[in-house]
Amino acid sequence: MEQEPRPGILPPPLRSFPAAQPLMSKVYDIGILPGDGIGDEVVSEAQKVLDAIQSIYGFQTRREHLPYGAEHYLKTGETMPDAAFDRIRQMHAVLFGAIGDPRIEVGKLEFAIIAGMRHRLDLYVNLRPVKLYHESLCPLKGKKPADIDILFLRENTEDAYAGVYGHTKKGTEHEIALQQMVYTRRGTERIVRHAFELALRRGPKPGRPKPMVTLIDKANAVRAQDLGTRTFAEVARDYPGVDTDHAYIDAACMWMVKNPEWFDVAVTTNLFGDIITDLGAMLIGGMGIAASGNIHPGKVSMFEGIHGSAPKYKGTDKASPLATILSMGLLLDHVGEAEAYQELEATVANLIQTGRIRSLRAGDHRCSEIGTMVRDELLERARQRR
Ligand code: IPM
Ligand code: MN
Repeated sequence: MEQEPRPGILPPPLRSFPAAQPLMSKVYDIGILPGDGIGDEVVSEAQKVLDAIQSIYGFQTRREHLPYGAEHYLKTGETMPDAAFDRIRQMHAVLFGAIGDPRIEVGKLEFAIIAGMRHRLDLYVNLRPVKLYHESLCPLKGKKPADIDILFLRENTEDAYAGVYGHTKKGTEHEIALQQMVYTRRGTERIVRHAFELALRRGPKPGRPKPMVTLIDKANAVRAQDLGTRTFAEVARDYPGVDTDHAYIDAACMWMVKNPEWFDVAVTTNLFGDIITDLGAMLIGGMGIAASGNIHPGKVSMFEGIHGSAPKYKGTDKASPLATILSMGLLLDHVGEAEAYQELEATVANLIQTGRIRSLRAGDHRCSEIGTMVRDELLERARQRR
């Protein structure tokens, strides 16, 4: 049976998101951190769209440019100073472009800036919606928008990303390299609980009695992940209105390709979440449309497309800004502007469904052309509602 996709990734009850409470002033302080590569151009398109949305929905933003990234590092030797974190803690959210530059040692800026924000701001939820807006964007045969609508929750502060690693006898034939997968009861429980909360707010998928949360892990081999198995079972008891399921990560990758319609909300560890959401991105049109939020509910949070800095496209006006535009939408949802987010998502979906945005491949549209289209369409839809 063919069904219409549900409207909005995060439907209206998110208005009651704890974050909305202290943020009622309707002026939001937003850090703008474009970073490297295509960061500048995609973030400036997202700001173009933000200008339109705030005029329509009657809120304001105070935007502060954060200059961190490769150029700043090469000029000053500074990655991201403590003072920047102090500033960001005063804000409602950060809109982030991308980090990564071939002139700089692998991982240095990623660790200081991306992981820096995730860890130092304790952004334990990495929310990565995988939602198909048009079947032409999906490489799988016969899959329609109603089939692919998954909310991935990637734990964002632990696991192999906890920063516990080392080398001994470095450079010798006896070298040993270690990186620990770290899980805590508290860290596990809070992401699992968040998954159940979001599932309740989303409600059931069409044709299902209840919303469902799938735990994805590798607890058969990584026995430390038994902590996740037990925590998930315990938390599930508090949510009789939510169905549960489990898949090992290897099988989950298979199911994503074979039967993506099976997934609803999926919660997983940091590293597996990193990997499977790239697979997810490819099912909905690629890195040009895959959005994410790095969230601490109720506190300052950071929003970014899941793509990298794509240095070869820097300054060419070829990269798709939709991932950043939709991430900016998740930002609006986080600060309490759920309606603005839903309207933005509906507008993007409509531009794709009507064929005005034909492709998300770099170069098929200009970056600025897509930003302008989204902005103009938002304004036009608002004019028609008046
Ligand atoms: C992501 C990225 C990062 C990650 C890199 C840049 C460190 O791939 O946000 O998915 O591994 O988390
Ligand atoms: Mn990744």
